[in-house]
Amino acid sequence: MDVTKEIRYVGVNDHDIDLFEGQYQVENGMAYNSYIIIDDKIAVFDTVDARFTEQWLGNIEAALGSRTPDYLIVQHMEPDHSANIVNFIHKYPDVKVVASAKAFAIMKQFFDTDFAAYQMVVGEGDTLSLGKHTLTFITAPMVHWPEVIVTYDSYDKVLFSADGFGKFGALDVEEDWACEARRYYIGIVGKYGAQVQSLLKKLSGLEVQAICPLHGPVLKENIGYYIGLYDTWSSYRAESEGVVIAYTSVYGHTKKAAELLADKLQAKGCPKVVVYDLARCDMAEAVEDAFRYSKLVLATTTYNMGIFPYMREFVEHLTERNYQNRVVGLMENGSWAPAAAKIMKQMLENSKNITFTDTVVHIKSALNKDSSSELDALSDELCRGF
Ligand code: FEO
Repeated sequence: MDVTKEIRYVGVNDHDIDLFEGQYQVENGMAYNSYIIIDDKIAVFDTVDARFTEQWLGNIEAALGSRTPDYLIVQHMEPDHSANIVNFIHKYPDVKVVASAKAFAIMKQFFDTDFAAYQMVVGEGDTLSLGKHTLTFITAPMVHWPEVIVTYDSYDKVLFSADGFGKFGALDVEEDWACEARRYYIGIVGKYGAQVQSLLKKLSGLEVQAICPLHGPVLKENIGYYIGLYDTWSSYRAESEGVVIAYTSVYGHTKKAAELLADKLQAKGCPKVVVYDLARCDMAEAVEDAFRYSKLVLATTTYNMGIFPYMREFVEHLTERNYQNRVVGLMENGSWAPAAAKIMKQMLENSKNITFTDTVVHIKSALNKDSSSELDALSDELCRGF
């Protein structure tokens, strides 16, 4: 696949993976992207996962014919991209490895060598000429690890964006970009909004005609759309108006209340209502939607003098990703010493700009007249402003 006349795609698709990074469900697999710029000098961008050595080296050979690469540019040291550095050097011993100083430090940790004889250390604004193509390196710490660099090719106006603008899913499966790019971003990079914002600022002066990420498709059209979504996500603004109801339920009473609230919200014209049973859903999808929509309702039971474990995990996913700028409603169920609403509120007390609804729904075992009217009041409050 050609990105431009001189930039080729040499990555691989992975349909054998069970969980990406040990936790994310990827039913459409994963792509580990790798690119080559073929100019007077030849540069390869990033290696691929350890399970695809032969396929990847074969792709490179097929793209280059009898020529050999001059540079291996290592933008990110996470093993889904760096696992084949040693294999690459064995095959192409005259190559220079181009990476940040931090990347070489991490290389030493993974491989017990920092490839001193091959090193070309680059930092902010450094350039590398391949002939027509001049590459400029831009540091992108914590997008998604501290050593990350992204690279701009001023000849073809292509941004090699490392994990940025990546998504779950192999490239031989058609699916909506935003859905899986958002789940990927919120799950994997979501904590580092400030760092993504600072990268976006650095990129704002560049004319970008294509983005080549390390996962997901090459983005060639409507670049402003992708940058706009990254700006929204990394600034923790809601992308869409709507309410996410996340609940756990032991015998179905809290579930019934959550579903009743959803019905009431829909009947009152709420633009979007999404309901998640946290014990059974893909937790990463629920976390994604909590960041996507403007309002969130947490509904759970008091359990072991705390809250039900799946809700605890969910709220921790939110707070560790700097959840902020949202309206939150609380529903608790407790048969003898209810404490869930108080505990959930405490868990969010360090989250910035959270507006709690005035109404808290208190269920004692099962819905009754009082808790049903609280549900009504909560639905009214949540629909205000839509
Ligand atoms: Fe795709 Fe952070 O590795």
